[in-house]
Amino acid sequence: MKGIVLAGGSGTRLYPLTKFTSKQLLSVYDKPLIYYPLSTLMLGGITDIALISTPVDIPKYKELLGNGENWGLTLTYFTQEKSRGIAEAFIICKDFIGNNHVSMILGDNIFYGNMRLTEVFGGFNGGALVFAYPVQDPQRYGVIELDSNGNAVGIDEKPKEPKSKYAVTGLYIYDSKAVEYAENLTPSDRGELEITDLNMEYLERGELKVNLLSRGIAWIDAGTVASLQQAGSFVQSIEDRQFYKIGCPEEIALRMGFIDLNRFASILSGIPDCEYRDYLTEIYKEFND
Ligand code: TTP
Repeated sequence: MKGIVLAGGSGTRLYPLTKFTSKQLLSVYDKPLIYYPLSTLMLGGITDIALISTPVDIPKYKELLGNGENWGLTLTYFTQEKSRGIAEAFIICKDFIGNNHVSMILGDNIFYGNMRLTEVFGGFNGGALVFAYPVQDPQRYGVIELDSNGNAVGIDEKPKEPKSKYAVTGLYIYDSKAVEYAENLTPSDRGELEITDLNMEYLERGELKVNLLSRGIAWIDAGTVASLQQAGSFVQSIEDRQFYKIGCPEEIALRMGFIDLNRFASILSGIPDCEYRDYLTEIYKEFND
């Protein structure tokens, strides 16, 4: 399965922070925001990943992440000229996707908890799969309506009277037909190719499945000033208490077997003396024992 991290957009809700940088490069406690969604795809076992961003920001991502080799990844960069919607990602990545299944994650979405991603990604066998999360304020999201067996029967975008508490999160898996369906979408009133319309296409064909995220999982969409701050506090709370870091790609690459201990040691030697390096040194010792 291939992966896409969608890290363009305008980030208007985070102005003036986003006046000089891409939203997904802002910090969430001790790491750039982009590390978290990238880590989520890695935890699903995905190593062939496309990163989409704006023409201005792509060079910054290249500087931060390189070609991904250090983390056992193949990273390919694609430009989205204008914010023409989330579903445009599949048109931009048409050749990259080819005949493969593809998982897309929004660059400002943070997931934490045991989502059994390798199993879920490995078990995907076509159609579309969305991950839904019970939220306090479903009115703000795309809301999925479920029948008594937990099957999707409808999706409403920002409904005044939500038919469930389940918001569609920014993590999706599609088969390669997503490209063709995205090409046939009509832009919405705000001029965007909407991901909800793509999901509706799968729903109407009876090919939309839902993975309901359970209580033990946290999902934060860090797209507003308050939620970005919340995300930072959340990561800090967990990391202050628990030894392990959240969303550390070097560690995940090692644990997933994308890189060996020698490669890990060589990454370590290139990191300046800091708390992040101390942490990776502890992980190295854990593996070396
Ligand atoms: P949004 O948060 O919906 O949009 P935005 O990033 O433009 O922010 P704002 O509403 O504050 O102006 O986007 C969700 C994610 O998708 C985010 O990671 C940016 C990305 N995105 C793109 O890369 N291209 C797009 O055309 C859109 C709409 C979003």
